[in-house]
Amino acid sequence: MDTRPIGVFDTGLGGLTAVRALRRILPEEDLVYFGDTARVPYGSRSRETILRYAQQDLRFLRSFDLKAVLIACGTVSTTSLDVLQAENDLPIVGVVEPTCRRALAVTQNRRVGMIATLASVRSGAYEAALRRLDPGMEVLCQPCPLFVPLVENGRFRPGDVVIETVAREYLAPLLDWGMDALILGCTHYPLLEEVISAVCGPGVTLVSAGEESAFELKRLLTARELRAPADSHGRAEFYVSDRSEDFEGAASLFLQEDIHHMARRIDIDQY
Ligand code: DGL
Repeated sequence: MDTRPIGVFDTGLGGLTAVRALRRILPEEDLVYFGDTARVPYGSRSRETILRYAQQDLRFLRSFDLKAVLIACGTVSTTSLDVLQAENDLPIVGVVEPTCRRALAVTQNRRVGMIATLASVRSGAYEAALRRLDPGMEVLCQPCPLFVPLVENGRFRPGDVVIETVAREYLAPLLDWGMDALILGCTHYPLLEEVISAVCGPGVTLVSAGEESAFELKRLLTARELRAPADSHGRAEFYVSDRSEDFEGAASLFLQEDIHHMARRIDIDQY
């Protein structure tokens, strides 16, 4: 039994889709969330910059006495997970492995598509993980750089002609290629689930990164006897590196609950 909180971080708001999944899958756990809203997006930056930012993010989170960390961000998970794990003496879960395991479980024709930021696609991490799990697997990755800014600007709802046009263009090569499973390899994409599944049709199963990594974390905490007591009611604290007011409005949308006056701003350059 361990009542210490779990740290969760993302480059901004998107990781709240993982917080939502954690609340459902591990409702008894306390969470400390950090969103690097001052420096988002990471997905178009170099690996060196992403790693440096991620190290600072983790140093801030480790100012709390945490029992584990979930890296909700696809970009940090694909580019920096191994270094962060080597540098830190606590369990750190990223989104790549759990998501790939799920994709393998659902694909029937063994053609898996993957969409993510440019940095994630460039890293080759998803191909490597899928092929490690099943060398016969075929993978096609597609960067979708316009998705994050569109979601951040509220353009993610079905019927929005801009997001639907962009989604059709990004997904066309994957559909022509014949995928039957699609990994949503970025924190923001669960918000596009309705739009993406309408474009893909019923023949493609969507696999969402945040949810699979929350299940992975549950398995890990259970195996190491680090779970909080089953009758506790987990609380969440939110920290950001830019205006908390801006975060709270959008975060309430992402989390589908009101978190006004709950976020605090910190100076990430101190870490
Ligand atoms: N959090 C990032 C990811 O999951 C998306 C936003 C960004 O580029 O920083 O890849």
